[in-house]
Amino acid sequence: MTKSPLKLAIIGGGSSYTPELVEGVLKRLDRVPVKEMHFVDVEAGQEKLEIIEALTRRMVEKAGADIIIKASLDRRAAIADADFVMTQFRVGGLQARANDERIPLKYDVIGQETTGPGGFAKALRTIPVILDICKDIEELAPNSWMLNFTNPAGLVTEAVQKYSKVKTIGLCNVPVSMKMMIAEMMDCLPEELSLECAGLNHLVWAHRAWLGGKDITAEVLKKVGDGANFSMKNIFEEPWDPAFLKALGAIPCPYHRYFYQTDAMLAEEKESSLNEGTRAEQVMKTEQELFELYQNESLAEKPEQLEKRGGAYYSDASLNLVDAIYNDLKTIHVVNVRNNGTIATLPDDAVIECSAVVGSWGARPLMIGELSPAVIGLIGQVKAYEQLTVEAAVHGEYDKGLMALANNPLVPDISKAKSIFDDILKTNHDYLPQFNQ
Ligand code: G6P
Repeated sequence: MTKSPLKLAIIGGGSSYTPELVEGVLKRLDRVPVKEMHFVDVEAGQEKLEIIEALTRRMVEKAGADIIIKASLDRRAAIADADFVMTQFRVGGLQARANDERIPLKYDVIGQETTGPGGFAKALRTIPVILDICKDIEELAPNSWMLNFTNPAGLVTEAVQKYSKVKTIGLCNVPVSMKMMIAEMMDCLPEELSLECAGLNHLVWAHRAWLGGKDITAEVLKKVGDGANFSMKNIFEEPWDPAFLKALGAIPCPYHRYFYQTDAMLAEEKESSLNEGTRAEQVMKTEQELFELYQNESLAEKPEQLEKRGGAYYSDASLNLVDAIYNDLKTIHVVNVRNNGTIATLPDDAVIECSAVVGSWGARPLMIGELSPAVIGLIGQVKAYEQLTVEAAVHGEYDKGLMALANNPLVPDISKAKSIFDDILKTNHDYLPQFNQ
C-alpha cells in the first residue's frame, strides 16, 4: 500500500454509530491522513444518511480538517479506489433485529442479536449481501482492506474469507471494552495491560491478563466475581458466580453469560420483552432521539447520548487497526482472522477472534495451541454451528441450517430448532432469496 492519503468507504454509513467513527478519524488525522470518506446506504436509509452527512460536515469543519465528504446510494462509487472499506450495515434494519429477538423467545430460547437463533437469522440475511459487496471490492478496489463490523462479525468474516478474495479483518468492540473495564478495576491505564485473548466473536476469553509483568488473571476474576462492572450496555448484568469464575480460570466476555447463565438471561429477556421491549425495540427509541439530536445544526460533535448504545469504543477498534496497517506498526490488536492453527482444536479455515500482530501485511495471530478442556467443548460446538450457518447462508440449504441450529448450544431440542428455523424463514422471506428458489 502506498503512503498516500486514504479514502474510506463506509457501507451502512447511515448508522447512528457513524459520528463515533467520524470522531475516531478526526482524532487521528496526524497519523492517519484521510482525504475522503464516502458513506453509502440503501434507499430505506437515505434520510438517515443525509442527516449523518450534514453532521459529519459540521464535525469536519469544526475540526478544521480537509476531508472530502460524500454520501450516496451508489455503492460502487464509494468502493472504487477505496483503501479501507468499513462494513457496518444491518439487513432489514432494527425491525428485523426485533424479530430475531422475539422469535426464539416464543420457544423459550434466548433471543439475541448475535448469539443463538437470532444471530443465525441475521447471518442468513447478511452473508449473501456482503458477498455481493465483495464482488464490487474485488473489481473496484482489489487492494483495499475490508474491516468488517457487520454482525455476527466472526461468522460474516468467515463467509468473506471462504467465498471471496477480499482482504478482510473482522472487528468487534468487546475485547477493547473488556480491556477498558479491567483497567478500571485495576486502577491502571489500558495501555499498561496485556490480555491474551482467544475464542470466537462474542465468545472470547482473556486467557491471561498481565499488568507490569505480573499475571493478574486470578485477581481480575475475583473482582468480577465480587461484582465489579463487567458488562456492555446491551447485555443484562447478571452477576457471576465467584466459584465458577475461579474454576474457569479464564476471563469470560460479557456475552458468555448467555451460555453459562442461560436460564437467568432468558428470564431477564422475557421480562424485558413484556415491559420495556426487547433490546432492538429499546434501541429504536434511542435511535429516534439520536437522529433528532443529529439534526440540530449547532451540533458538531458526537453527542453523549450515543453512549446508551452497546458499541462503545468501536471507532477506536477500527481506527487503531487502520493506523497499524497504514503505518505498519506491528502492534497487537484483537481481531477476527483465519485460525491457521492458532487454536489447535479448531479447523484451519475457521475464523477466530484473537490477539494478533497487525502491520501493513495484515494480522498474524499470536499462537495459542491447545485450549483448556474447560473451554474446548463450547468453542468447538459454537464453531460447528457457525460453519454450518455459513454454508446454509451461501447455498440456501435447509438441511445445513437445521443442523446449524441443532448444534447451537442455546437451542436445547431439535423440535425447537425446526420450529424456530421455519419461523425465521417465514418471517424473513423477503430477505432470504437463497431459500426461496
Ligand atoms: C455490543 C456488540 C456489538 C453490538 C452492540 C449492540 O457492543 O459488541 O456487536 O452491535 O453491542 O448494541 P445496541 O446498542 O445496538 O444494542
